[in-house]
Amino acid sequence: MTEKLPLNPFYSGIDIPDRFFCDRKAETAEIVKLITNGNNIVLKAPRRIGKSSLIKHVFSQNAINNKYNTLYVDIFGTRCSADFQIELQNAFMASSFAKSTKLFKKIMAYAKNARVELGAIEQSGIKLPSIGFNDPTGPIFTISEVFDAYEQADKPGLIVFDEFQQIQDYPERMAAILRGLIQQMNNTRFIFCGSSRHMLNTMFLQHNQPFYKSASTIDLDIISLPSYQEFVSTNFSIYGKKISNEAIEFTYYLMSGNTFGMQEVMKLAFMNAEPGALTEKKDIICALKELLTSKDAEYRDLLNRITSIKDRNTLFCIAAMGVATSLTSSGVMKKYNLDNASSVQHSLANLGAEKMNLIQLLSKGTYTLQDRLFELWIAYRGNYLDMKLYNPKERFEKERSELSSLPPIPKP
Ligand SMILES: Nc1ncnc2c1ncn2[C@@H]1O[C@H](COP(=O)(O)OP(=O)(O)OP(=O)(O)O)[C@@H](O)[C@H]1O
Ligand SMILES: [Mg+2]
Repeated sequence: MTEKLPLNPFYSGIDIPDRFFCDRKAETAEIVKLITNGNNIVLKAPRRIGKSSLIKHVFSQNAINNKYNTLYVDIFGTRCSADFQIELQNAFMASSFAKSTKLFKKIMAYAKNARVELGAIEQSGIKLPSIGFNDPTGPIFTISEVFDAYEQADKPGLIVFDEFQQIQDYPERMAAILRGLIQQMNNTRFIFCGSSRHMLNTMFLQHNQPFYKSASTIDLDIISLPSYQEFVSTNFSIYGKKISNEAIEFTYYLMSGNTFGMQEVMKLAFMNAEPGALTEKKDIICALKELLTSKDAEYRDLLNRITSIKDRNTLFCIAAMGVATSLTSSGVMKKYNLDNASSVQHSLANLGAEKMNLIQLLSKGTYTLQDRLFELWIAYRGNYLDMKLYNPKERFEKERSELSSLPPIPKP
């Protein structure tokens, strides 16, 4: 019997079957080892490198799957401890473990009181039916009730908080509250994930912070080129398709090794590929242009949110330079129509602030855009994409060498 393959082996979500998951063998083994030896972990990486998918991959490993009661909670966009509680509660309720707990009875008791409001016609229009609990505003469980359920279970627990840096913005002293609860737990391990290196370093590496030295740190790097090459060519070949090594390498450098960007381009290139024909660099460029066009609305919207012309010009300057240095030198300011050194500094602060998070500091005075696709989109719409396509390896190497000049992070 022939095996049923998905239409496309290049996945977009975070639940990727092992077979279509690229590499991460060493990282997976390290995380499993730390967890099974009783450690908590902080997992850091820039946006869209593959943190969340890696966590899901870890959950499916033999040493974890069925041996731990796992819980994955994404707290992206939460603003206060009640939001946190609701996310925790929703994730818990969706887990298979929940059904075996006493808390489940509490859910059922609430569910009995659930109300259904059916379409009363209001002056403003038709009110849609809504189903909810009698007190839809607040969480049903406390954080410690959920944690206790994991503590008291026969199997150990593994709870993951994704985008954990978010708690720093809560009005409550959430880090101290959580630390107090987590410290008392023996049967449950935690993984704290996030993309704000600065924020997570502050939380876990500063001695006056509640989470100081409470977890082992893993900095997730990009997938290596040889691993990605093997992964892509194998995936093409199991479908009877072919891709040149040059095309894979080109994609890798073009996306600076960013997993999301590479996978999105490959997904399209794969879709466009005829069985038997060879996918080449020119086909990757076609796929890239298709992808960038599909991003028009999203990126225009993003640009519209930058209301200051000075901020926009600074952003365009960084996009054009790729790896941007000496932004306040007179040569650069003149070339890119930037006002003066202090307004450039001001714009850099605005663009890099958590709220915008559009640029990242690579090393002192050196910036790139957070989202490589956004950089390429600006170039495409600015009619200079060809420059970006000319020698992406050079930009990649520059970026890597800037990154390696960062001081090493001390391990707790
Ligand atoms: N090892 C992998 N193999 C195949 N695809 C992957 C792998 N890792 C990540 N991806 C893909 O890359 C994209 C980004 O991954 P993911 O969402 O896990 O990154 P992230 O670091 O959590 O991003 P964010 O910062 O946005 O939360 C997803 O589309 C995912 O499918
Ligand atoms: Mg994620």
